[in-house]
Amino acid sequence: MDEMEPQTAAGKVLWHFSMSLDGFVAGPNHTMDWMTGATFRPGLVEEYAETTGAVLGGRAGWDAYPDPTGIYGGAWQGPLFVLTHHPDDAQPTPGVTFLSCDVAEALRIAREAADGKNVEVFSPTIGRQLLERGLIDEIDLHIVPVLLGDGIRLFDNPGGAPVGLELLVGDDRKAAVDVRYRPVPPG
Ligand SMILES: NC(=O)c1ccc[n+]([C@@H]2O[C@H](COP(=O)([O-])OP(=O)(O)OC[C@H]3O[C@@H](n4cnc5c(N)ncnc54)[C@H](OP(=O)(O)O)[C@@H]3O)[C@@H](O)[C@H]2O)c1
Repeated sequence: MDEMEPQTAAGKVLWHFSMSLDGFVAGPNHTMDWMTGATFRPGLVEEYAETTGAVLGGRAGWDAYPDPTGIYGGAWQGPLFVLTHHPDDAQPTPGVTFLSCDVAEALRIAREAADGKNVEVFSPTIGRQLLERGLIDEIDLHIVPVLLGDGIRLFDNPGGAPVGLELLVGDDRKAAVDVRYRPVPPG
């Protein structure tokens, strides 16, 4: 398969996640230990730390990990916006703005703060809402070699219609991607 082009800072809206093979971006109760031991291509963290101008997340993700200094292992600093229906009971935190507004307005605020760099959407629920409104530019995923079977899905939309995608690697926008794994014996 063709090499992935490095991500570029181009004022884009990215739905960016590490994801299990079966489509979960967090385990049950927001657990993230399933990523332990996974390796990522060299320079990946630096690439996204450099191209990201702002992060937009949801309140559940914030409540589970209320520390903006942990984003990209501390390699990224910048404005974090957290969307919630109840900003009043959120702990004020430097660099973090709690927003209670329409999701498109939250994105507009984050885009402005990103100042030409990309906005990363760190929330499955907000990403789904933005996708419905045609406001996601790219879905950018790193598939971790694990099956979770339970947790928080990238795209949870029971009863919804399929969403067509185009592959942004290589020339064939409709190409299926080949992956091949072997289960690790338990224990
Ligand atoms: N794998 C990865 O690379 C990666 C990266 C980032 C995050 N994550 C994980 O992603 C998970 C995020 O979880 P999640 O999707 O369940 O929750 P979430 O999106 O973080 O939070 C959902 C909450 O956001 C608020 N919200 C969403 N849309 C809103 C709107 N239109 N208006 C106002 N408030 C709105 C609501 O908060 P209120 O209830 O307060 O109103 C809602 O309950 C976390 O576990 C995090 O660790 C994974």
